[in-house]
Amino acid sequence: MPDADWWRVLWPDPEAVLRRCGLARGMSAIDLCCGDGWFTVPMCRMLGAGAVHGLDLLAEMIGAAKRAHERARAPTCNWIVGDACRVDAMVPEKVDFVLIANTFHGAPDKTALAASAARALKPGGRLVIINWHAHRREETVVLDAPRGPATELRMTPQDVAQVVEPAGLKAVEVVELPPYHYAAIFGASSE
Ligand SMILES: C[S@@+](CC[C@H](N)C(=O)[O-])C[C@H]1O[C@@H](n2cnc3c(N)ncnc32)[C@H](O)[C@@H]1O
Repeated sequence: MPDADWWRVLWPDPEAVLRRCGLARGMSAIDLCCGDGWFTVPMCRMLGAGAVHGLDLLAEMIGAAKRAHERARAPTCNWIVGDACRVDAMVPEKVDFVLIANTFHGAPDKTALAASAARALKPGGRLVIINWHAHRREETVVLDAPRGPATELRMTPQDVAQVVEPAGLKAVEVVELPPYHYAAIFGASSE
């Protein structure tokens, strides 16, 4: 998890980012690989009590997310320690929106991860993958230092679609999230 100072500079308004990606009141959502809850807490504020699940592999990340959530006095969240590739088995009901932010580029089996997210979605639901653009790392500077994953790990939206569509999801939109990110948005079939 990046340290909080430059993360806050890069993502000053996570709620606005979520809105641009299509999150709206009345939905239910999973923040998959939620880290310390930077996007989970605003999700809870937007969607209200019981509508959000935050999942991470590491108990210490879920601990940090819970503390941030308590400080923010946000509506209740269902916190899960577990592997994102098994999310469909860990969240009892299907949801409208699954977010994977700043993590997908490093997943060892990206199609398996997308397939698990797809199984957690309601018909017509959305998988939103927020990634660093495939720029060279030296070019993505925040607070005077290069940030983000190694250049060779970065993916274009087309690279993402190539590994997500075999999981049964359809690419519907790419949203620019300046200065260095995009959201690749995929839809589950509505049947
Ligand atoms: C760079 S952080 C991003 C956190 C958050 N999504 C954000 O954008 O602020 C990546 C997170 O993914 C988690 N992670 C990595 N592999 C995972 C897996 N297989 N299942 C669940 N979480 C995972 C890590 O523990 C870490 O907290």
